[in-house]
Amino acid sequence: MKTTISLTTPAQLETESLVAIVLNQADPTGEKNKDAKPQLKLATSDTAVQSVPADLLVSGELTGKPFEMNLLHKPAGLKAKRLLLIGGGSAKKFTSYELRRIAGAAVRTLKSRGIRSFAFIAPPNIPAAEAVRAIVEGALVGNFDPDYYRSDRKDQKIDALTILASGNSDHAALDKAAHEAQVVGESQNFTRDLVNEPSNRMTPTILGDRAKKMCEEVGLKCEVYGADKIKELKMGAFWSVAQGSDEPPALIVMKYEPAGAPEKPVLGLVGKGITFDTGGISIKPADGMEKMKYDMAGGATMIGAMRAIALLKPKVKVIGIVCATENMPSGKAQKPGDVQIAMSGKSIEIINTDAEGRLVLADGLHYAKQLGATHLVDAATLTGAVVIALGFANAGLFANDDDMYERFHKANAEAGEKMWRLPIDDEYKDNIKSTIADMVNSGGRWGGAINAAMFLKEFAEDTPWIHLDIAGTAWMEDQKPWIAKGPSGIALRSLVEFVKGFAG
Ligand code: BES
Ligand code: MN
Ligand code: ZN
Repeated sequence: MKTTISLTTPAQLETESLVAIVLNQADPTGEKNKDAKPQLKLATSDTAVQSVPADLLVSGELTGKPFEMNLLHKPAGLKAKRLLLIGGGSAKKFTSYELRRIAGAAVRTLKSRGIRSFAFIAPPNIPAAEAVRAIVEGALVGNFDPDYYRSDRKDQKIDALTILASGNSDHAALDKAAHEAQVVGESQNFTRDLVNEPSNRMTPTILGDRAKKMCEEVGLKCEVYGADKIKELKMGAFWSVAQGSDEPPALIVMKYEPAGAPEKPVLGLVGKGITFDTGGISIKPADGMEKMKYDMAGGATMIGAMRAIALLKPKVKVIGIVCATENMPSGKAQKPGDVQIAMSGKSIEIINTDAEGRLVLADGLHYAKQLGATHLVDAATLTGAVVIALGFANAGLFANDDDMYERFHKANAEAGEKMWRLPIDDEYKDNIKSTIADMVNSGGRWGGAINAAMFLKEFAEDTPWIHLDIAGTAWMEDQKPWIAKGPSGIALRSLVEFVKGFAG
């Protein structure tokens, strides 16, 4: 999708469709106004565009609620062929978070009608560069559809998006914002492509090949190691998962070392890359097991984030590590009760072979530190328990350092992603006590997402660290107006923003 910034008056632009947001100016807060009639207004300063739906807006037929759509043909007085009105909800609560989704919804509505290009009027109440970023990122998210293997795939896409900013904006600054947003949005879709592939088409080897190819394209160093290196590094926790599969594992190491970056910090991004999680000997029920192809979403997120980082060139060193393997039952598979020695030297009693993500991450985190990482972030579809705790709207976030948390929280807000911090107090450490080893790999049902984080904390040790449990957010269970059903690409935008924050 090509993106262009234009400072033209919207009414004067020739386009397949203009898109304008309808905002409700009535204040829905406060007892008295609760049932107040909506007062609808278009988010544009162009009076010619405003006058087109003037009667419709006062007719009482519209609510102005988010994603309410009206498509008008041959709008009088405009050069555009169509005018798409999209409800944006309350004007007071309208931020770039809502704007991102509205832009995605505009893309999905127009492309489903076979339209390939349109112009979006940036709402004047959001700072122009921020609005451009939200529109471009949101539009790219909306432009992705996962129906690759359907013979009736229409592959309808928006090819060109024009963003109409207010006439007195700084054109160069908006071009830069659009370019950066494009890199981030395309990287998010790159990640979604990887996650979307089924396990027979996204083995650890294939994931490694895709990472390598991407790294060559954007100028990153990349090594993909196999079983020999995993054993040589004494990654006993990672190998304990990999040993059960006939499919060779892959340890993917990507390095971004820009000229002029300080020696420290070095950020380590570590992803869970389970290309299929059967549960192993502690096998999962058949119902829904097909979804465990997305158990490599954390790893795919780190690969996509490294792509964006390489293209945006922040002055900070970053290492990306993905521990990729299948989790299979077999004659070679590990069994409950087995004791494994992780790369760090800590011993682990395996209670449940289905708690495999924390095993591969334990060695990934330790290895990142050994390669020089001074700050760690991991992302993983780690627990069903985080879905019980937070549902599908927020990813689970854990931090052993408040400064890291503040930085990441700020990045979440900038990136328009929702994550919620959960505790990792020492009191929970009892849950992972073992009688025979340093810890067990499964602390049981209660506080399951926290128990998993407590386990990882043993391997992050004193290094400032963030853990993102994206089990409930990496896959959209239903389609939404702004995004298709399927892989979401969650966390990539926050990670990139977080890394940029370290570059000062
Ligand atoms: N990959 C799963 C977690 C998961 C569940 C991801 C649902 C996406 C959707 C993980 O490896 C797992 O199986 N976790 C177990 C841990 C338990 C055995 C301690 C779980 O959550 O049940
Ligand atoms: Mn599992
Ligand atoms: Zn898993």
